[in-house]
Amino acid sequence: MSGTAVAVLAGGRGSNFEALVRGDTGDGRVTLLLSDNPEAPVLARAREIGVEGRYIDPGPYRTRFGLREEGDWAGFLMDRGIGLVCLAGLMRIIKGPLLDAFEGRIMNIHPSLLPAFPGLEPQRKALEHGVKVSGCTVHYVDRGTDTGPIILQAPVPVLPGDTPETLSERILAEEHRIYPEAVKLHCAGRLSRRGRRVTALEDSAHLRDI
Ligand code: GAR
Repeated sequence: MSGTAVAVLAGGRGSNFEALVRGDTGDGRVTLLLSDNPEAPVLARAREIGVEGRYIDPGPYRTRFGLREEGDWAGFLMDRGIGLVCLAGLMRIIKGPLLDAFEGRIMNIHPSLLPAFPGLEPQRKALEHGVKVSGCTVHYVDRGTDTGPIILQAPVPVLPGDTPETLSERILAEEHRIYPEAVKLHCAGRLSRRGRRVTALEDSAHLRDI
């Protein structure tokens, strides 16, 4: 296969997984879906779409991987020749073998404008805080919780009468737009990183035509 093989790691309903499969990811192609939950609707979605989906045991903890199990996940991804890992609703911290094997090649999507409201229930926290604008962030994963270098963000206005559900729904539409775009930029080698600052380089496609 030419281009970059992309694996999505997800534990829930999988709308971002589907957006990454169906969206324009350029030279990146989603070839694998791994889930930490054997009952996750995302596994059924993968079957319907025709992408290989697998459950792999994450170990005994709820919000992180067991060390041995994280090694199993990393080994599986490496055996499959995965070049980019996209977290999409995987509610676990990655700190060990997965990060070592794919440092700089793991992205996450989070439904807030980071660094505001990392962690769980960011939409509810944004409403309770009274912000007027929230949104979503695609970032590279580092050893912290939602702290890695920011690739793309999209703002979403908070409307009077919003509930966590209505706000989440409007943020989700933006997630589905910017996640494929971030994958496309990464796979085209158009993301330049200096420390925490990630810059999208101009598309040089026109130069190839000269
Ligand atoms: C998405 O809103 C994603 O941003 C969020 O979980 C949802 C998964 O939805 N992720 C996090 O909060 C990670 N901290 P999906 O399963 O339909 O893609």
